[in-house]
Amino acid sequence: MTSPPATDAYRTWSPAAQEKALQALRERTTKEWRPFYCPDPVCDGNPHGEWEWNHARADQRPPTDNDWLVWLLMSGRGTGKTRTGTEFVHRATKKLPRIALVAGTSTDAREVMLEGESGILSIAPPDHRPFYEPSKKRLTWPNGSVATLYSAEEPDRLRGPEHYLAWLDEPAHWPLVQECWDNLLFGLRLGSRPRIICTTTPKSRPWMKELIADSRTRKVSVSTYANLANLSPVFAERVIGRYEGTRLGRQELHGELLTDVEGALWSWEMIEENREPLPDSFDRVIVAIDPAGSAKKSADETGIIVAGSVGNECYILEDRSGHYSPHGWAKAAESCYHRWDADAYVAEVNFGADMVISNMRASGIEGRIIEQRSARGKELRAEPVVGMYEQGKIHHTETFETLEAQQTEWVPSESRNSPDRVDALVFAVTELQKRRQKAGMANPANLRSVS
Ligand SMILES: Nc1ncnc2c1ncn2[C@@H]1O[C@H](COP(=O)(O)OP(=O)(O)OP(=O)(O)O)[C@@H](O)[C@H]1O
Ligand SMILES: [Mg+2]
Ligand SMILES: [Zn+2]
Repeated sequence: MTSPPATDAYRTWSPAAQEKALQALRERTTKEWRPFYCPDPVCDGNPHGEWEWNHARADQRPPTDNDWLVWLLMSGRGTGKTRTGTEFVHRATKKLPRIALVAGTSTDAREVMLEGESGILSIAPPDHRPFYEPSKKRLTWPNGSVATLYSAEEPDRLRGPEHYLAWLDEPAHWPLVQECWDNLLFGLRLGSRPRIICTTTPKSRPWMKELIADSRTRKVSVSTYANLANLSPVFAERVIGRYEGTRLGRQELHGELLTDVEGALWSWEMIEENREPLPDSFDRVIVAIDPAGSAKKSADETGIIVAGSVGNECYILEDRSGHYSPHGWAKAAESCYHRWDADAYVAEVNFGADMVISNMRASGIEGRIIEQRSARGKELRAEPVVGMYEQGKIHHTETFETLEAQQTEWVPSESRNSPDRVDALVFAVTELQKRRQKAGMANPANLRSVS
């Protein structure tokens, strides 16, 4: 007698055991996939009737008119942007043969757009699941519809191929968004009513402002709170705790495009448009410190900023500012110094030079310390640095949220006391700039290039 094949083994089980296994299977399948769009166009997404699960809210439904080119979901973090992109793409593949999926990097394309909790492969309907070929960066749905994955780091690849629909996840954060956009539009089948869906938290950039102003754009904006029921409590607590009540929170939680503060020295664009990755090496690196000192309230932060120069360009490398004891800030500055193999410290010593320097030495600091005495007003001192930002010579190598908020929110005419992080940044850049000028003077090769 031969034993039944493994797949038929369940036939030998008792009816009760068979039923139990079937029930478990049904549960698993329904947990894994449930339709997103109910028939009610203004549904709030809460369960009703047969729709016993949370599903699409009205803000997650595509625009209802026919003339749109871009559906811009410009919403807070965790609002269901990626999920909306995914669901819309699955639905669109029933009609459209060629689709472009563009993410910030190829890792994001795979880890967020495809395999993430809201990704295309994770949320695929069982009867409409695409086949993924990583080597071809291609998805093929059972009906033959094809989507190609692109990385926003390679805008040129978007030139050529024609698409009917493109989904862009977090485009406001791509350094080369304008190049990608131009190439993408070039390849869209303009005659045949192409569509683009952009799902992103906002960032104040020219590309974003133009997109919002375009009459073919349909913008939707909701806050993180709208999707609270579907977020893990850990995620919700983390982002809300971090941003609620701050200016940046208006952008990160509420999806509001932050405009520049009237009278602030820095605009968002000056910082945003000049971000660059970390260079391989530097001519000089400075660790600048604005100590929370005796003349200031003890609640003040000590500003600690690391910046490096390469030729004419300046890079902001690290912001280690915070509330420290005197020994604490000296140690924090020292660890920055070693981490970046810095050339010198610059420390503001207006109030008690001896105290600042002796504190640093007592804390074991051995490197060179340049004393920064601020005779000029804070605004005057910051202006040349702002000028360098305007010329695109200063690059932030990461997003320094608090520092950048201070830069873009400090209005000198309203508060003469500049924020500590801004002060430290100004010291660092000014010092790097000084040395460069001196070196330039002493070097005949540089003299010749001055016309
Ligand atoms: N209408 C909905 N019903 C049920 N679950 C939803 C709904 N919208 C979103 N979700 C779920 O909420 C979670 C967050 O969604 P998603 O990842 O799409 O948000 P996001 O806005 O892209 O977030 P991030 O800002 O982190 O990129 C996911 O688990 C997603 O499946
Ligand atoms: Mg997302
Ligand atoms: Zn509904």
